[in-house]
Amino acid sequence: MHGGPFDEDHELMQRRRDWRARREAMEAQPSGKRWRGQMRSYLYRTARRTHDVLRPTRPVRWGAERALRLGLTELTASFPDLPAAFDGYRILHLTDLHLDNIDGTAEAVAERVAAVESDLCVITGDIRDNIHAPMGPLMKRLGHVVSAVRARDGTIGVLGNHDSAAMVPPMEDLGIRVLLNETISYARGGEALHVTGVDDVHRFHTEDARVALESAPEGFCIALVHSPEVAHVAAARHRLYLTGHTHGGQICLPGGRPIAMGMKANRHLARGAWQHGDMVGYTSRGLGACVLPFRTFCPGEVVSVTLRKGPALVVGGGRKPRS
Ligand SMILES: [Fe+2]
Repeated sequence: MHGGPFDEDHELMQRRRDWRARREAMEAQPSGKRWRGQMRSYLYRTARRTHDVLRPTRPVRWGAERALRLGLTELTASFPDLPAAFDGYRILHLTDLHLDNIDGTAEAVAERVAAVESDLCVITGDIRDNIHAPMGPLMKRLGHVVSAVRARDGTIGVLGNHDSAAMVPPMEDLGIRVLLNETISYARGGEALHVTGVDDVHRFHTEDARVALESAPEGFCIALVHSPEVAHVAAARHRLYLTGHTHGGQICLPGGRPIAMGMKANRHLARGAWQHGDMVGYTSRGLGACVLPFRTFCPGEVVSVTLRKGPALVVGGGRKPRS
């Protein structure tokens, strides 16, 4: 005999065990070409050690303090096919927190999100900076952020390329539902809004992510993906794509011109609002800093997206960071 909640739970747990084994095997592998992976890890290690030595110095403290001045970007995204029951539904989008990099990041994010009311909070990865950082202090910082979130339907998230499979159980203990190549649905007034979340596709790409995006249910569906690199895959079945990874460049030239974005595909979707076919997307500048503990000409942002039923359109802008 098949069916029933026990079989479903058992199948889900087995799928998650299989996912974790696969992801951990990938985490143990060097990324990309061997020499490039070794060079990158050498540079990361050197940057981290230099940062640790220079952390108490005045210029580094000044840069870190400025990086934590976070802005609020409020967007309205309209869709003719949005279920009427979700007209006005607000999504708080957090990404690239890198909580173990700059001390005080969790407190700065918590202060920003505490002032924003929403229906659902979504986190699109890179909660940590160093994949080997100790779990206890990281989860304490994440718990501080999540406890400040004011979202009626709670918090869900996906992992980024800096995150590890081992983070999933403690994140779920904090009440964050982590989507591992799967879809969750929210019901209101007899209508549904679906959210598909996939594992990181930049460093840990698998066919499971593609399958999850391509087999999302019929109806209004939102994709949560760490990077914009699979927007073309999601566009067939999703109407909104929320993402990060690029930090908007993080280290930019005056005028916000980025030096590097760290993307392998869809580089034209690296920042801000965009459209791909019938799907609209937003690539957030994120909240924290990767490796180097500062940002230049590229402030971090909390994003609030209000869904509206109406002609297809994305409008809105940012509020300047607090100084
Ligand atoms: Fe990141």
